[in-house]
Amino acid sequence: MTHYLPNTSPEDVVDDIIDQNFEAIAKWKGRRLRAQHGRSHGCVKATFTIRDDLPERLRHGLFEKAASYSAAVRFSNGAHLDDRKTDAHGMAVKLFDVPGTKLIDVEALSQLNISQISDEFDFVLVDRDTFPSYLSDDYERLSSLIATLQALQHASNKRRSWSLKLITRGLVALFHAFATQKGRRRLQTASDFASNYMQSPFEAHFWSTTPYRLGTDLTVRYLARSVRHKVATKPVDEHDGISRKLRQDVAGDGNRFEFCIIEPPRNDGDFDPLDNRVRWACDPQPDAPLDPFHRTVTPIADITIERDAEFDPLDGDTLSFSPWRVTAEHKPLGPINEIRLKTYLSLARARFPNR
Ligand code: HEM
Repeated sequence: MTHYLPNTSPEDVVDDIIDQNFEAIAKWKGRRLRAQHGRSHGCVKATFTIRDDLPERLRHGLFEKAASYSAAVRFSNGAHLDDRKTDAHGMAVKLFDVPGTKLIDVEALSQLNISQISDEFDFVLVDRDTFPSYLSDDYERLSSLIATLQALQHASNKRRSWSLKLITRGLVALFHAFATQKGRRRLQTASDFASNYMQSPFEAHFWSTTPYRLGTDLTVRYLARSVRHKVATKPVDEHDGISRKLRQDVAGDGNRFEFCIIEPPRNDGDFDPLDNRVRWACDPQPDAPLDPFHRTVTPIADITIERDAEFDPLDGDTLSFSPWRVTAEHKPLGPINEIRLKTYLSLARARFPNR
């Protein structure tokens, strides 16, 4: 059941959000970074193997039958270039040679008149189980604040230039963030979301946070659950400490994630399965039974990181990931995902103008 009142729809805010993301882009080591999750820890080769024992109700689209795909996995910081800072860390998974029309290609043709055909299939995940906003207007304000703070931070580190527009936006964003109670709450929620330390990315769990359709009527979220999970309680020692740990750990065996489907804990009138802010499952510790109360977490695939997997020397810069690079049976749901459709497409197009 959808409870949000679309007084501001995703279409009303998406162009502003795209502008804000363009504002946040920085250069680092001579490279033009992604507007978000620009700092990569590494991009590793993996195999994504769909299990052959899935319950009938979950066998749709990609998960219809057992299969194995080669994959690339890019790990990233959400906002910071320095690995010692707390952040929301990303895990983006790309499967290769997956047939079927992808929703992002349909959008590229209809909105931007660009013809593209992906034989890839993506999952975009972070190391938090919920996302701080749900409604379009709320996200728009949060996005404006974060993009501005990020642009100011890049300018003060000389990774982009100061402009009158940036200074004015910075003052307005800071005023809204600190002068009102709502603004302070928004800032607090955003900083809670980005409050994780990380040591090795292979020791973290990663969630989709937002919901996806499965088949015709299930609403699900995804979880990549590390089989060697450890809670990181302190930062790495060096600014590139997470990349170093990744390179060290990839030399060993046993780096694997169980890719799980999470189903909503209940389905009654008060529960809105599209609300990204609500937790669905219990803490999925690897050695504890999964979600013993609701039985809502089902491992459906294994992401096995190849030992000594060759690193992409550009750490995934040549790839782009999108939650919409999926077939219709896996359609992303809710206003936040709707905003992401055109945003990821436009930002990636700007990184690859000649493709
Ligand atoms: C409306 C909300 C959101 C907006 C506007 C947004 C925007 C973006 C943009 C512009 C990028 C860079 C794209 C590129 O240059 O190729 C990005 C990357 C990313 N986003 Fe989001 N995002 C949103 C929500 C989320 C959520 C809910 C998640 C949770 C899983 C998430 C996780 C990521 C990750 C992991 C990446 C890095 C992907 C990669 O490695 O290429 N984002 N986002």
